Amino acid sequence: MLRIDKVAGKDVLMESEIPFLKLFKKGKVREVYEIKDHLLIVATDRLSAFDVIMKTGIPGKGVYLTKQSSYWFKFIEKEGFKTHFVSDDINEIVEVAGEKRLLDLDWLKGRVMLGKKAEVIPVEAVCRFRLYGSAVTALETGTWIWDPVEAEGGLKAGAVIKDGPVFTPTEKSETDDKISFDQMTDIIGDRKLALTIKEKTTELFKICNKHATEHLGFEIADGKVEYGMIDGQLSLIDETFTSDSARFIPDKSKEVFRKWLTDNNIKKVSVEIPEDISMMVSDLYKSQCADMGVL
Ligand SMILES: Nc1ncnc2c1ncn2[C@@H]1O[C@H](COP(=O)(O)OP(=O)(O)O)[C@@H](O)[C@H]1O
Ligand SMILES: [Mg+2]
Repeated sequence: MLRIDKVAGKDVLMESEIPFLKLFKKGKVREVYEIKDHLLIVATDRLSAFDVIMKTGIPGKGVYLTKQSSYWFKFIEKEGFKTHFVSDDINEIVEVAGEKRLLDLDWLKGRVMLGKKAEVIPVEAVCRFRLYGSAVTALETGTWIWDPVEAEGGLKAGAVIKDGPVFTPTEKSETDDKISFDQMTDIIGDRKLALTIKEKTTELFKICNKHATEHLGFEIADGKVEYGMIDGQLSLIDETFTSDSARFIPDKSKEVFRKWLTDNNIKKVSVEIPEDISMMVSDLYKSQCADMGVL
């Protein structure tokens, strides 16, 4: 059911509803609708952290995420990678999808992307140039299960990984558990494909981080991408290098909210977010868009 809340006097889309389309999937942040062999991916203003959806939304978030993702998908396609991306232009989407009624939905504007439907590979392809978060924990607790890493000055938070990025996949499940390359191979059931994913992701991160550093004024510290098969070809799906799916330097990502949760000792529970914190997150995501020149 359509649910639009108010935060700091602004609309936040907590749940979408498109009565004339079939709901294909409801994720933590996005609702995905089916239009023949395409998917209409609607980014809501929901915020999830440590796999839990918060009770309060973030004004503008779905629009900011869509702008960030679309920018990178267009760039990535130009660099020769296959992706699911078709368009983020509502008029083009209406044309390709043959669905004029979408134009009547005011709340949809700016937060929708048309993609090709993929057979999802249930792995989160994470790469890291620097050590943060769960990577630091894994090193500290002796549970690092990926290629060995070195860093000048020691393996501590923020350290730059020598010859990075390092590939540190997780399982795409309720809990996003970390998995070794061999576990990832078992999940995928195809060693050659697993190797391709590792190599492609590493290459993608290098190209995108170089572009971000040289042209956009920020560094990609780490991030995750997802893959699926479209017409038998390995393709990037979902979202790319957004404030939800990556960490940046300077950091304009969800990490700032995770820190607020940790500082307030809130662990894996859904809470109401104070308006000023919600606006702070909103402003950060917006500022990331501004850095990318997509506002
Ligand atoms: N091209 C695609 N084909 C099929 N599924 C996709 C495609 N792009 C994204 N998805 C899926 O749609 C969902 C997007 O919603 P999201 O809120 O990110 O969900 P999640 O809670 O799984 O992270 C994800 O589960 C993602 O795997
Ligand atoms: Mg997701």
